[in-house]
Amino acid sequence: MVIAFGCDHAGYSFKEKIIMFLKTQGYKVVDYGCFDDGSVDYPDFATAVARCVSKGTCDTGVLICGTGIGMCITANKFRGVRAAVAYSTDTAELAKRHNNANILCVGARSFKVNEIIEFIDVWLKASFEGGRHGRRVDKISNLEDKNIK
Ligand code: RB5
Repeated sequence: MVIAFGCDHAGYSFKEKIIMFLKTQGYKVVDYGCFDDGSVDYPDFATAVARCVSKGTCDTGVLICGTGIGMCITANKFRGVRAAVAYSTDTAELAKRHNNANILCVGARSFKVNEIIEFIDVWLKASFEGGRHGRRVDKISNLEDKNIK
């Protein structure tokens, strides 16, 4: 599985540890930056990761900023992307089981790096349950074709 990874300056200090963890688990990681702790704009990195997931050139993505929120708002602009902010192991797991989230967004200013690694780990290992959750996720996908204002 190929994981696209992106962060801003708030998430940068966690990046190497998280990528190292993902590689030890056998994942291939494509790192879209940022590459130092200088101030950057999170939409640029969310765009790179979400575009990769939307086009199918990566299987899934992880985005880290201060809160995870700005990354999530940006990523969800892209067709086929279901980005979710995780704020506990439970919400990380349910983001996959119920929402089939294909990008996980996390807040580096709210959690320790080991907590974030745990969120990512449970999310990657969880499976989408389908059934009634599939019907609901399909309703979300159908909104993409409607140019709703
Ligand atoms: C950057 O200061 C901060 O706004 C950003 O990391 C993120 O939390 C936005 O949602």
